[in-house]
Amino acid sequence: MANETNNFPELISHCKEYGYIFQSSEIYDGLAAVYDYGQLGAQLKKNLRDEWWKSMTQMHENIVGIDAAIFMHPTVWKASGHVDNFSDPMIDNRDSNKRYRVDHLIEGHAETLDKEAGEALLAEMDKLIAADDLPGLKNLIESNKIKCAISKTCNWTDIRQFNLMFSTQIGSVAEESDTIYLRPETAQGIFVNFLNVQKTGRMKIPFGIAQTGKAFRNEIVARQFIFRMREFEQMEMQFFVRPGTQMEWYNFWKDERKKWHQSIGIPGEKLRFHDHVKLAHYADAALDIEFEFPFGWKELEGIHSRTDFDLTQHAKFSKKKIQYFDNDLNPEGKPYGNYTPFVVETSVGLDRLFLTVMSLAYAEEKWTKEDGSEDSRVVLRIPAKIAPTKLAILPLIKKDGLPEIAKELMNDCKGSFMCFYEEKDAIGKRYRRMDAIGTPFCVTIDHQTKEDNTVTIRYRDDMRQERIALTEVKNLVSKLIG
Ligand code: GAP
Repeated sequence: MANETNNFPELISHCKEYGYIFQSSEIYDGLAAVYDYGQLGAQLKKNLRDEWWKSMTQMHENIVGIDAAIFMHPTVWKASGHVDNFSDPMIDNRDSNKRYRVDHLIEGHAETLDKEAGEALLAEMDKLIAADDLPGLKNLIESNKIKCAISKTCNWTDIRQFNLMFSTQIGSVAEESDTIYLRPETAQGIFVNFLNVQKTGRMKIPFGIAQTGKAFRNEIVARQFIFRMREFEQMEMQFFVRPGTQMEWYNFWKDERKKWHQSIGIPGEKLRFHDHVKLAHYADAALDIEFEFPFGWKELEGIHSRTDFDLTQHAKFSKKKIQYFDNDLNPEGKPYGNYTPFVVETSVGLDRLFLTVMSLAYAEEKWTKEDGSEDSRVVLRIPAKIAPTKLAILPLIKKDGLPEIAKELMNDCKGSFMCFYEEKDAIGKRYRRMDAIGTPFCVTIDHQTKEDNTVTIRYRDDMRQERIALTEVKNLVSKLIG
């Protein structure tokens, strides 16, 4: 296909125009960095979540899934370190009053420089962040004359740390109320249920607990559409291992997760590993799986070796014994006995994964037809396995018994996969609409169907059409969506 392009602003409009993503509370002018998923977006998101859930729980006998509440006891966040440490260095511009995350401000400036200078600036920034050197970071901003995008001045405040957790009150105002937090990660719901799951599920180390769900962060600079949101969804898995084996499992999960992304159609060359320079308060090793988004290489998933930090902290704060008795034998022939398991975590943002899939899928195509005329289309090449609608069923015209045959096919297929029925507009226009929403297969019922029980199947990616038996449609589509 000639002249393919991949354009981010157009992708954002496309998501809105075709019912994938809407700005939250749009009729009230929206709420910054909060989005709603429309009819197709919700289905694509569910398909991605289902793929992840299946790969984690169904495909691994030693991983089970849970669904913990968003609200948790406030001490959880004290124990986990989020109350004291979950903050980002921020700087304000005195003229515009606009607040920036320091790393984002510097990264934004680095993108405007040539490659070598940009990389040098980022390396310097990484060094200062790793040393928690806030005055040094301010110096870096000033010496590089980094300006506020609004006021265009370098009139900066000192850098301060801001906690990213949202808080609210539980209980009525009249009663004694307590501050609770909207969870900034789903992981803690897993840690506090470690003993419940291990005992009731008779889980033997190594084993994992998986969970998907909403997380909330008061991101100051929320940018790039659904890449950085204030309310988002995580898909996390905590893998509990014997102390001393964590690096082995860290490497295992690093490779396993990259392979999984490739299995849902993300090309290997669009993914890379990035080791963390500054480790979070709970980690002894950490890396990001980055994807090459239209706006550059950015984190898609985190793999973290969280040591025994979380379980030890929860044991300390709850005054409960949170340990595991391992009766396997060590090299000296004695049971390993009681210990606090170490944890390797995989944590991917579902919204970021959605954006990854959409930015790979979106294409504007133009080509010259055999008769010399020009043609074009916008197509979402979403892999058939995760596409929200799998099959469009299209009677050529609205009469002569064609809709009846089409509806019968619809009834036969809809229990097996998501179908879409459409009888309005010319067939070419309907095909283009299905391309635009990413439907991988269309079946057209025409007058020949009445004579020989065959239909035309059209493939979205190469627009090829072929005639197949009506009775073959369900099996063929089921096979192609894998
Ligand atoms: N439990 C570990 C943890 O939360 P993280 O690296 O802060 O680690 C994990 O987050 C993943 O969650 C990220 O790789 C990203 O995909 C997603 N994520 C984090 N903050 C996000 C935000 N503000 N908007 C959308 N996704 C976000």
